[in-house]
Amino acid sequence: MEKESYKDYIQRIKDKMEYHKQKGDIVPDFSLIKTPWQIQQIKAAAKLNTEVLNFVQSNIKVGMNTQEIDDLVYKFTTENGGKCAPYGYEGFPKNVCTSINEEVCHGIPSRLKKLKSGDIINVDVSTIVQGYYGDASRMFEIGEVSEERKRLVKVTKECLKLGIEAAKPWGYIGDIGAAISEHAHKNGYSVVTKLGGHGIGLEFHEEPFVSHVGTKGTGMLLVPGMIFTIEPMINVGTPDVVIDKYNGWTIYTKDGKDSAQVEHQILICEDGAEIISY
Ligand code: MF3
Ligand code: CO
Repeated sequence: MEKESYKDYIQRIKDKMEYHKQKGDIVPDFSLIKTPWQIQQIKAAAKLNTEVLNFVQSNIKVGMNTQEIDDLVYKFTTENGGKCAPYGYEGFPKNVCTSINEEVCHGIPSRLKKLKSGDIINVDVSTIVQGYYGDASRMFEIGEVSEERKRLVKVTKECLKLGIEAAKPWGYIGDIGAAISEHAHKNGYSVVTKLGGHGIGLEFHEEPFVSHVGTKGTGMLLVPGMIFTIEPMINVGTPDVVIDKYNGWTIYTKDGKDSAQVEHQILICEDGAEIISY
């Protein structure tokens, strides 16, 4: 069989989107379908972003303060031709988000925040390369971590994996949240609903909003060429969160119990979701 031309491929995708639209599905705007060139550029940003996370992973240790993590991220990113996306984003003051224990996300690096043995920390790195965006985050266990915290981190990683496996071409965005929340609840945890994943690539935050709770078969149709993040925030206690009154950024659990988060950036392909932040 002859290889399908790009033009024919796009026409086939558009026809299928039109079919879903007629049947009443929420269909993404065609602008959310990335071109091969854009995909290549976004993958380059995601690759550097992964290298930054690897660099943090090999340097993070007990006694370090979170400003030192910011310094590592800034140095590695800029020396390798990238820019730190968080810096100046809607006024965010630092280059990376560092969220410890009961901090859910958007923790601000500081010389005053020192990593102690037993802490769990999310480092959320976002990188711009030639105008295109990469975004991913990992959890790190500092020193001797309790079994309870280890289990939270483990289940959060499983939630992300299951969410990614549920992201299928011509499936629905609600499939992702359904898979994540089912696994979190089964393990006695709750899922933060106020924040979610997001389309990304040409901008830091694009459509769609990717909820980590949801109902199978509902929400936006997933079409090959879409790129978005999945970044579940899983809480030990209730899903309620509060925002820091002073810095206007950091999100904490309302009950002060622990929270964990991991994030990947994925590309919807014709045969499943590809993790581009590996
Ligand atoms: N990486 C975070 C996200 O996943 C970015 C938060 S915006 C920032 O959406 F300004 F805090 F970086
Ligand atoms: Co993100």
